[in-house]
Order: sequence, then structure tokens, then C-alpha cells
Amino acid sequence: METITTKKLNDKVGVEFVGVTADQLRNDDSLAVAVLDALEERGVVLFRKIDADDQSQVDFCRKLGPLNNFKDHPPYETEEVMEISFSPSNPTAAYLKSNDFWHTDGLLDDHAAKTAVLSARVVADKGGETEFASTYEAYDALTDDEKERFENVRVIHSFEAVQRHSYENPTAEQIEEWNARRPGREHPLVWTHSTGRRSLVLGATASHIVGMDVEEGRALLKELVDRATTPDRVYRHTWAVGDMVLWDNSGLLHRACEFDRKEPRRMHRSTITGSSVGQ
Ligand code: OGA
Ligand code: MN
Repeated sequence: METITTKKLNDKVGVEFVGVTADQLRNDDSLAVAVLDALEERGVVLFRKIDADDQSQVDFCRKLGPLNNFKDHPPYETEEVMEISFSPSNPTAAYLKSNDFWHTDGLLDDHAAKTAVLSARVVADKGGETEFASTYEAYDALTDDEKERFENVRVIHSFEAVQRHSYENPTAEQIEEWNARRPGREHPLVWTHSTGRRSLVLGATASHIVGMDVEEGRALLKELVDRATTPDRVYRHTWAVGDMVLWDNSGLLHRACEFDRKEPRRMHRSTITGSSVGQ
């Protein structure tokens, strides 16, 4: 492999791999190794305007690990690609509103997403950026006393909790449907990775802390997200059509920024599965 030029996206998070082509995604196996290292080190990897089609995206992602199959959603072009859009024809659009709140993907699944990938196909004229903040940094910035207090804390995550951010006064039917669709799950607050590094497991799916007054637990969880996502800790990606971004879902929070939902913003999403985050 030729040496690839890389550029940090900011002090805390992210690196751009400059000038990589869709052809390299398919054919250059050493690229996958470099990307895995960069994800571990910098959390976010950007290929600016790489213009990868679905098949190139999937072929590359397969080199990073097993992919989620989105069979439950009508397939877009391949079953390993899901559409993130608010188009009336997208059956998952109603649930995607909550992407606007800091979250970790897949905490309600058997295995959370290890790496998540978005390619921009249509971008919003205004807004619609995606923001990322490191939960390793969030852990490291805790006081020693907090590190000790949080050691064995467990948190309940639920689909109801995440959807309530978008639907503040849900009907009984909505709540029933959410809970039937996705049962809640318990995760530790502090996750020790196989590398020995530690991060916080946070985000909009977090409902309450086990064994703590519900409101008190919620206030603590909110405070931790606020501290993890102060502007100096965040990388905000402003999308151009053709950009492809990968992120280490087990060590980052992310969210979508506001935009006019009538705009046809469309992302093509793949998920490398199999993280043991929060188990
Ligand atoms: C996601 C997600 C954010 C965005 O696909 O998991 O949170 O900006 N997307 O679309
Ligand atoms: Mn997400």
C-alpha cells in the first residue's frame, strides 16, 4: 500500500484519510487494517467525497467484521445497507427522529454496533451535520472519586426512553408498541474494553440507574452526557455528497444536527456488529 496521508479532524476526535478512492476500498486490503487502527486511536475515520456505491461500501465493511443484515427493513439496494432518511417511503423514518439526541447505536440489540458507517447520498442545504464525542475522554475526565463510585453502576436502557425524547406525550399504544418492539436492557455505566481502556456507556436509550432514585439517576446520566459533549470535545462533520464516515460506536456518542425534515437528506448506513459494549 502507498502511504496514506492522514489529517486529524480536531484535537480530540477523528482523522481524515486523504485521497482514498472507492477502488482502494474494494482492492487494498491493508487499508482495512489502517482504518481499524485509526478507529481505535481517533474514533472517527473520514473519506471525503469518495463516492463509494453500496457494493463498495459493503465489500470494505466486510473486511472490518461481520455486518448487520437489515432484512427487517425493506432492503435498499443490498440487505447490508439501510436508508437513513425522512422520506415518506422509508418505514423506519418515525424512529429516526431520536438520532438528534446523543446516543450509542445498538444498545438494545444482542450485540451493539462495533463500527458504524454512513455515506452521504443527498445532503441538507442547511444543518444535518453529524456530531461525535469520545466516551473514552468522558471516562478519563472523571474525578478519581467518580471513577470509584461508578465502578459497579448499572443502567437500564430502553426504546421507550429514546423515543420519549422525540415524542414527549406518547399515547398508551405508542408506549406498548415501543416496549413490544424492543425490550429494555441493562448495561454497566463503565465499560472496560478488551484493550484495557475504559469508556462510559451513555446516550438517549439510558432510562435510569439500577438501585438509585429514578430522577436522581436521570440527572446524573444527563450531567455525564453534557460533560462528555461540551463543544471543545465534539467533532462536527459537515457532509458533502459522497463523504463516507466510519466511527467506533463502542467509544463514542453521536447525534444528527437539526435540519428541515422536508429536505431529502439521505444517508446509506452499514453496521459492523459484534461489539461486547455494555455486556
Ligand atoms: C445513525 C445515526 C446520524 C445522522 O445512522 O445511527 O445516528 O446524522 N445517524 O444521520
Ligand atoms: Mn445512531
